[in-house]
Amino acid sequence: PVLVVDFGAQYAQLIARRVREAQVYSEVVPHSMPVEAMLAKNPAAIILSGGPSSVYADGAPSVDPALFGAGVPVLGICYGFQVMAQALGGDVAQTGLSEFGGTVVDVCEAGVLLANTPSQQSAWMSHGDAVHRAPQGFRVLATTAGAPVAAFENREQRLFGVQWHPEVKHSETGQTVLEHFLYEGAGLAPDWTPSSIVDDQVALIREQVGSARVICALSGGVDSAVAAALVQKAVGDQLTCVHVDHGLMRAGEVEQIERDFVASTGVRLIVRDEKERFLTALAGVTDPETKRKIIGREFIRVFEDAQRQIIKDAGEAGEDVKFLVQGTLYPDVVESGGGEGAANIKSHHNVGGLPDDLQFELVEPLRALFKDEVRAVGRELGIPEEIVGRQPFPGPGLGIRIIGEVTEHNLDILRRADAIAREELTKAGLDQEIWQCPVVLLADVRSVGVQGDGRTYGHPVVLRPVSSEDAMTADWTRLPYETLAVISTRITNEVREINRVVLDVTSKPPATIEWE
Ligand code: XMP
Repeated sequence: PVLVVDFGAQYAQLIARRVREAQVYSEVVPHSMPVEAMLAKNPAAIILSGGPSSVYADGAPSVDPALFGAGVPVLGICYGFQVMAQALGGDVAQTGLSEFGGTVVDVCEAGVLLANTPSQQSAWMSHGDAVHRAPQGFRVLATTAGAPVAAFENREQRLFGVQWHPEVKHSETGQTVLEHFLYEGAGLAPDWTPSSIVDDQVALIREQVGSARVICALSGGVDSAVAAALVQKAVGDQLTCVHVDHGLMRAGEVEQIERDFVASTGVRLIVRDEKERFLTALAGVTDPETKRKIIGREFIRVFEDAQRQIIKDAGEAGEDVKFLVQGTLYPDVVESGGGEGAANIKSHHNVGGLPDDLQFELVEPLRALFKDEVRAVGRELGIPEEIVGRQPFPGPGLGIRIIGEVTEHNLDILRRADAIAREELTKAGLDQEIWQCPVVLLADVRSVGVQGDGRTYGHPVVLRPVSSEDAMTADWTRLPYETLAVISTRITNEVREINRVVLDVTSKPPATIEWE
């Protein structure tokens, strides 16, 4: 892999993504990892990320200079660039002139990194210190007003560095610079593609699973669907999928799993209809956290029950059920390796996120992938676009999109309104632009309206369209007024119980994406 050494900035994952966009596999590692451990991973190249520190600050993170003599191509970015300059004998100084945001870079020599790029280009900067003198043997490629050395390289030793952030889209030639490093600087080939990922994963799953049986909880979301399809491709009939129908899905979703997913993958699927059970457990409950806990708890009970049945049946057939598939993604893996202590804002319940005391070994074929890569793999496997292209949908489903009590009646109202909003957003070609658009029923709120000369006293629904890269932060999507108007008119005409449609124009933070 290409290792991205994380110096504690929020940019390391982004760098890893950009490297993968260049079809080269990359992984993030903490800067505290010893150089021997990094080299033991047999890296094809190493990229040092930006970071919040000054190389002169007390306890400033650094790397063992041995890294630069190991014969592995290295690219230093921002703080990583300064760490590199300092370790190799260059000068890093506080210029007193910080550069933040878009900055003009003057190219003095193209070299490998800046070949065929404009002699003046705009780049995204965020630094206080600057490199004043490049280490011996390095050629200076570019300067800015605040950074006498803004890029350098030593072609023979395959060491490269830039002061700006090539991983950020605001850097005009960012992706080009990264690709020059990967392809020319490090001599790598762009061969990490969806089909190569499928081949690799299928081989790994076969090796791990052998002839044992495997269980998978299928939520209807992209991740569990793609994970299941990979396992199905690898070990076929050894896999049994379970879908727990908690009655909190949107219109048509359960049917879609039963019909489209099974048809395209040939997976063996058990659907447990547990609508009554969930509704009973949720009766009278309005507190968001209580709802989440109840849904999570009931889900686990039902799934364990289904598991026992599968194990019993397999036992009678003399087979061994040993594995459980989970759709864990790469950001979860990186985050769980990177320190605890985040505040518990909401009890996220992942359908498929099961208790720790399971007697199963986990199969996690998506552990190395970002969401968009999971989608690409899903398409490669022939899973229908309706499933692969689906926007995120929370495990607790519509249960946390009803402010008030979750009843059959309220679910029915919300399902009809949600179906209209989704249909119109798709029709307007906006699915790519929005991350997701929860439709929230304010079942506890009523307002006065007038329709056909008569007074109405109905409920509002809220449209919550958001744009986001990773759901950690989000902005409200500026939907065209015409689309909003059509959605509003259709919902109030077609869903009798609703007489008002309102738009949520809050970013995250301070609000979250879901209302509960
Ligand atoms: P919030 O509301 O925390 O949501 O801003 C961030 C993203 O996570 C989704 N979400 C969930 N997904 N189980 C899930 O699988 C959950 O319990 C859950 N709660 C929120 C939400 O839809 C958004 O994409």
